[in-house]
Amino acid sequence: MELRHYLQFKDFTLDEYDYVFARTRWIKDKFKRYEPYQPLVDRTLAMVFEKHSTRTRVSFEAGMNQLGGSVITLMTRDTQMGRGEPIEDVARVISRMVDIIMIRTFEQRIIERFSEYSRVPVINGLTNEYHPCQIMGDIYTYIEHRGSIRGKTVTWIGDSNNVCNTWLQAATIFDFNVHVSTPPGYEVEPERAGIYDTSHFESFTDPLEAVRGADLVTTDVWTSMGMEAEDAERKHDFEDWQVDAEMMRLAKSDALFMHCLPAHRGEEVATEVIDGPQSVVWDEAENRLHVQKALMEYLLLGRTII
Ligand code: CP
Ligand code: NVA
Repeated sequence: MELRHYLQFKDFTLDEYDYVFARTRWIKDKFKRYEPYQPLVDRTLAMVFEKHSTRTRVSFEAGMNQLGGSVITLMTRDTQMGRGEPIEDVARVISRMVDIIMIRTFEQRIIERFSEYSRVPVINGLTNEYHPCQIMGDIYTYIEHRGSIRGKTVTWIGDSNNVCNTWLQAATIFDFNVHVSTPPGYEVEPERAGIYDTSHFESFTDPLEAVRGADLVTTDVWTSMGMEAEDAERKHDFEDWQVDAEMMRLAKSDALFMHCLPAHRGEEVATEVIDGPQSVVWDEAENRLHVQKALMEYLLLGRTII
């Protein structure tokens, strides 16, 4: 089987997402009925974390165990990587011992270098630039609640970070529109976002204008991991970019609210929104488990059904 990696959202075609989502529905349904499905017996997932995680760690670990495989979790500071072993050497060694690898790290270039030397599939569990597993879960969640996302409007409020960049890549593939509103100085950088087609993306200086008529409103923390030194400055710069009830009223009446979590209530989102009736954040978090199980199955076994 051809070796495939999943390093950014545009690594898969729409046809592949349709397949992975069909598998997700089937795998999730079996899970809900307590019916074991263990196609990955004897397979091992290694997870490498250079940053904190709750959802990504639990969803990949639980997911691989449920599929019959086992998991090794490495926090870089406890390993020789934390003492400067080159990433290329680590990739060559780990990929001779396990079947699939997930990495959460800093620059995208690190995971690219790792994948160049890996014998097994590598999955991006978040980098400074992208978070593809998150948006796979988010789009799956949107479809579960509202049907096709094609032609819909997703409004992103806040920082043009890894999650925002990934929404922008997904817009071209799934053919929906993204309205982005960031404070001045924090605008989307198309090259960093990895988008070459800006026809699915519109930028707004006024967050209230960006949210008008949206089908989905989403945001994320003002200060991502690794940028903690800017926290005070960002709290000041982003204070008008909180998703609150007034903002949600301008979106469509059936608009959903999503947040990749962890959330800071009272900063990027008001409590009344994240804990309100339009919020689907818990379904969104749960679906990380189901889409990633389908993703690991696809990367290791290819298409198991026509
Ligand atoms: N959304 C997400 O990736 O959460 P964690 O940082 O907890 O993994
Ligand atoms: N943008 C956030 C996402 C956390 C899941 C970060 O990178 O810290």
